[in-house]
Order: sequence, then structure tokens, then C-alpha cells
Amino acid sequence: MVDSIELDPKIWPDTADRNSRGEITIGGLSVTSLVEEYGSPLFIFDEAHIRERARQYLSAYNTADVPTDIYYAGKAFLSTTVAKWLVEEGLRIDVCTGGELEVALRAGVKPESILFHGNNKSVPELEKAVEVGVGRIVVDSLVEISRLSQIAAVKGVTQQVLVRVTLGVEAHTHEAISTAHEDQKFGLSIASGAALDAIELVLSQPSLSLLGLHSHIGSQIFDASGFEIAAHRIVELADTVRKKFDFTVTELNVGGGMGIAYIPEDDPIQVGHMAKAIHEIISTECARVHFPLPKLAVEPGRAIVGGAAITVYEIGTVKPVLVTDELVRHYISVDGGMSDNIRTALYDAQYTVALASRQTAALAVTSRVVGKHCESGDIVVRDTLLPADLAPGDLLAVAGTGAYCRPMSSNYNFLPRPAVVSVKDGKSQVLLRRETMDDLLALDPGIK
Ligand code: LLP
Repeated sequence: MVDSIELDPKIWPDTADRNSRGEITIGGLSVTSLVEEYGSPLFIFDEAHIRERARQYLSAYNTADVPTDIYYAGKAFLSTTVAKWLVEEGLRIDVCTGGELEVALRAGVKPESILFHGNNKSVPELEKAVEVGVGRIVVDSLVEISRLSQIAAVKGVTQQVLVRVTLGVEAHTHEAISTAHEDQKFGLSIASGAALDAIELVLSQPSLSLLGLHSHIGSQIFDASGFEIAAHRIVELADTVRKKFDFTVTELNVGGGMGIAYIPEDDPIQVGHMAKAIHEIISTECARVHFPLPKLAVEPGRAIVGGAAITVYEIGTVKPVLVTDELVRHYISVDGGMSDNIRTALYDAQYTVALASRQTAALAVTSRVVGKHCESGDIVVRDTLLPADLAPGDLLAVAGTGAYCRPMSSNYNFLPRPAVVSVKDGKSQVLLRRETMDDLLALDPGIK
């Protein structure tokens, strides 16, 4: 049984609550009033939650002897306001395209605290990054190393780089978001020798300065074991580099990937425990081969913003569908769908959903929350229990939509993207305004 009233604190934003009318509130404002003001569907971020996660990361990683930089992975969700909050809290920003770089720069993030990666950065993207003085560029191929070295030489600067390596670690997560095994597009493999070739090439380029090594083993990871293997292999590689090239790297970046709870069964490791495990293994491995302790870096995205937002939808239709003689499933159609949350269709992601605009004593029944797109795979929450009396006009809130929902959204079926707002202490603000039909029509030169 799912309790449609209780909001599990490990899944919902920190300030989520219900008021006396049974409406869900975030930061002291009811979702009903927010939808009245900004429309539906609506992404609502809890500012306090984001700031708190940033602080937790900083304090977890700053207690140990290993100095650690925390880069927020902007791909999870990026707007100038969120970037400013995170920089205020002491985080740096990781970007993977010229677009994300532009947002970070427009937010006033200092270029030297930006890290830029990606497997196919374009020449203009690299030129821009070098020109503005991005602190670290993570190189991902031999072609890119030559390209970047030429760009930096022409501009007369020495660009700091990290080499993205593939460790051969299988993070236990969905294949599409697991990135450090061998047969994939990211990084340079240690096992095949490609990583050493890339490092040698970087070291031979006067316009590049090798700071360290970078890895990323996947996403939505719940335990430290993958990171422990990663840390072991990356330190081993650093030691090989020292012996082979007489060069000591000073920075090891183990990427992001720390998971969050979307449903009650999800049990991700606490950030403090993860930090301790990663620090311990780095220290132990370095001590074992007498390698000077490098600076460490991590790149959490989802762990900072994922749990901070909910998506509120308005119900348009409720259709009981006879599935078997014993099973009726309520198909609850909402005013968004796979265009604002593709994760269910793409990764079989699971979400927690609740009636957000009132209280009810109705029984919970087998339900599926679906979108309004012309596609049967357009499912937001596949299997859930929701009150039997849900009706058109009711609001539903889906938790855990702060990461990889708005950034992966589309205009499928010409749906304008929802607005994104944030709330704190009874005040709301727009992070990204709602798209209008005019925004979409403006792209078609045939429309006068
Ligand atoms: N660093 C690198 C190099 C990455 O590629 C990523 C994510 C991160 C950090 C941040 O990972 P996080 O801490 O957020 O797990 N769209 C997928 C996730 C793709 C992650 C891509 N890279 C999803 O919706 O689950």
C-alpha cells in the first residue's frame, strides 16, 4: 500500500509538506497557488534542498585529509540562478558543451573554476573555452589533444588538461548511463594502452599542461564499490605515468554518478560514507605505491538537484482499463509526459507520485500516470497506487524530477516546455520561463 498522504523525506524535497487542505507545499508555498501563478505542468525546485546538498558535499569531502574540489555537473539541470547558488555555496561547475559553458559564464562563474568535458567538443567550443580561460579541459581523444594544443598555441596560452580514461569498471546501473566499461565512446582505455598514448601526446605539447586524470563510471550508483575499483586503477595509472614519463600528475577526478532515492526501495549510500570510502581508497592506494597524495575532484549532478524538484501536472482524463478479469488499471492522463520526462521511457526509471491538490480518504488503486503524447510508451509513472477518486482538474506531483528531466525535454508533438520555478521561504521565482507556442512557431520560416 502506498500512503497517498505521507511524503517520504528521502524522496521528496527537504521542505515538502502538506498544509491543512492536504495540498503539497514546497518552501511554504502550495503547489496549487504556484500552478495558478505559473501554469501547468510546472517544475518546482526547492532552493533550500539544493543548497543543503551542496553543503553536505563540501563538508563530507572536506573532513578528510584529501583536498577535494566539488564540481556540480551542470548537465543535470542548469540555469544561471542555480549556478549562482552553487558557486555561492563553494562548488565549481562542470560543463560538457558550449551551451552549458555559456550559461555558466553568463551566471558569472569564474572561468578558472569551470571544467569542460565531452567526447566531441567542436573547434569553436574549444576556442571559446581557451579564450575565456576555462580552468580545466578534459581531453577525450588523440584528435582532440592535437586540436586543443594547436588552439592554445595560436592563442599563446598554456591550457590545463585532464585526460579522460576508461577504467573497465562496470557500474551497476542502466547500460545507457554506465560509462566506464571498455566498449563505449568516452575516454581512452587503460587496458589497450590508449590512455598512455594520450598522456604521452599531451606531455609532448608545449601549449598543454597535464594536471591529472579523469574518470566517470556511470550514474545513479548506490554503493562505493565501483569507485573503489576506479580509485585503485586510476592511482595505478598515475604511478605508471610517473615511472614511464617521469611526470607526476597532481589531480585525480573520479566523476559523478552518486545515486538518489526515487522510490522507497532505493537505498543510496550517504554522501559522508561515499566520501570516506573514496578518500580511504585513494589514500591507501597512494601510500601503497608511495605516490604523493593528489588533489581529488568529484562531479555530482543528480545528487545535488535530483531530489530537489517535483513536477506538477494537471489531470485531464481518468480511464479505468480492464487488464485481466481481476485487474483494472486506472490510466491517469496528465498535461505533459515524455516531452518533459523521457527517463521512464528511456531508462525504465521509476518515480513516486502523489495527489498534490487536496486530501482524500479514497482507497488506493492500481494506476499508471501517462502523458498526452501520441505514443503508448508515453508513461510518466508506470506502476503506482493512487486514490480511486482522482478526477480531471486534480494536481499530481511527481518527485525526484530535478535532474535530467527539463534538460532532456523536447517539443515532441509541439508541446511547449514547462516553466521551472524555485521556492524559498514563501517566495517563488522563475528559473526558466515556460515556452510559448510562438517560441516554437518562430522556428518555421513558412509561418508568417
Ligand atoms: N561527470 C561526468 C563526466 C558525467 O558524464 C556525468 C553524467 C556526471 C559527472 C554527473 O553524473 P550524475 O552525478 O548526475 O550521475 N541522463 C541520465 C544520466 C546521464 C549522466 C551523464 N553523465 C539519467 O537521466 O539518468
